[in-house]
Amino acid sequence: MKLVAAQLAASVLKRCAALAACTDKPGQTLRTFLSPAMEECHQLVRVWMTEAGMTVHIDNAGNLRGLYAPQPNLPRIILASHLDTVPNAGAYDGILGVLLGIALVEAIQPLKLDIAIEVIGFSDEEGVRYSIPFLGSRAITHTLDNRTLEQLDAEKISIVQALAQYRAMHPEVQLSDIYPDTHGYLEFHIEQGPVLDQQKLPLAVVDAIAGQSRLTFAFHGKAAHAGTTPMHLRQDALVAAAEWISFVEKTAAAKPGLVATVGQITCEPSAANVIPATAKCSLDIRHASDVEREAALCEIQQQAEKIASQRNIDLEVKKHYDQPATLMDSGLIHLAEQAIKLAGYPAPHIISGAGHDAMILAPHLPSAMIFLRTPGGLSHHPDESVHKEDVQAAIETGIVFLELFQKESRNQRIA
Ligand code: HGY
Ligand code: MN
Ligand code: MN
Repeated sequence: MKLVAAQLAASVLKRCAALAACTDKPGQTLRTFLSPAMEECHQLVRVWMTEAGMTVHIDNAGNLRGLYAPQPNLPRIILASHLDTVPNAGAYDGILGVLLGIALVEAIQPLKLDIAIEVIGFSDEEGVRYSIPFLGSRAITHTLDNRTLEQLDAEKISIVQALAQYRAMHPEVQLSDIYPDTHGYLEFHIEQGPVLDQQKLPLAVVDAIAGQSRLTFAFHGKAAHAGTTPMHLRQDALVAAAEWISFVEKTAAAKPGLVATVGQITCEPSAANVIPATAKCSLDIRHASDVEREAALCEIQQQAEKIASQRNIDLEVKKHYDQPATLMDSGLIHLAEQAIKLAGYPAPHIISGAGHDAMILAPHLPSAMIFLRTPGGLSHHPDESVHKEDVQAAIETGIVFLELFQKESRNQRIA
């Protein structure tokens, strides 16, 4: 089995590199919701799924879905992650989990397990196009509300319009749903942080995923001449935003377990000799405890209001998304821990600071995650990497997990 896992690990890494070239922006890896690069990526993954003996289709939210079912009505497990990326991404965030799913379908066929495996490549987890994450997994769990569907992208196309265009281009799409007989969800993903690298360990079982909120804070001041307007008469939106951003950083640094990031800022009219009229800032704030996250968000919003009133600036706050902290399924956590140990590796437990599709599936399906070490903890960066031996360890572990899952499903059918 080790040799097979090593060969499959090499093929998974080659495929990750091939998909990294499917990009909407030459010179870097960027693949967004329903984009041309995503179509290109689907073509490649579709071939690999078919070669692995899977039937392949896309659903009406642009999720790519491959099914391996040796017989009808078998208990099914989903192995999934996302195929979209952040701008200037690495080659493994999300993609590795989808390709590991296909590799496991290839690996388990000689074992003739009586389970079905569905591999899903979600169409959007990062939320780059619409500033709202998890569109693909929220489509299959029917948790896309109308307000979200009206959200506009930079070209002023709403999600509902983008989906209508996609469905017109792909009349073959099927309903986005969790299909019958599905009893569990497992997502392999890189840790994207430094913990496993520091502990020199290849894998970890995820106990819970931190909750997150995403908002836009828009400071509206007044444009004026940079040369003639005295400092005390200015309503400078960018300076207000700058004061607030440093408060955000100080607040997060002072609260254990809290992270808060202003990752995007736009300024208008953005001319060197004009006092900024508007500064729009994104806010991504996360904590393993929802109470802590909400309390910190309230403090950060109050400070924005205080700065705005002191500087005679208007403030507009728009919340795009709130995702509660999510526990993984205790039964599948136990299975994952056993599988890692039986495969011969230490099985530490970890809390995920990064968000994942597993947090969307968890309220609907027993869900678990297994992390792979991220060298240097570097992710959301072109130098993101993964060790081949860890990919091999994940494949060995995945095979054992599927055997344990089959045994569990048999026991439940007998019970
Ligand atoms: O932002 C995140 O947590 C994930 O990488 N989408
Ligand atoms: Mn990511
Ligand atoms: Mn991811």
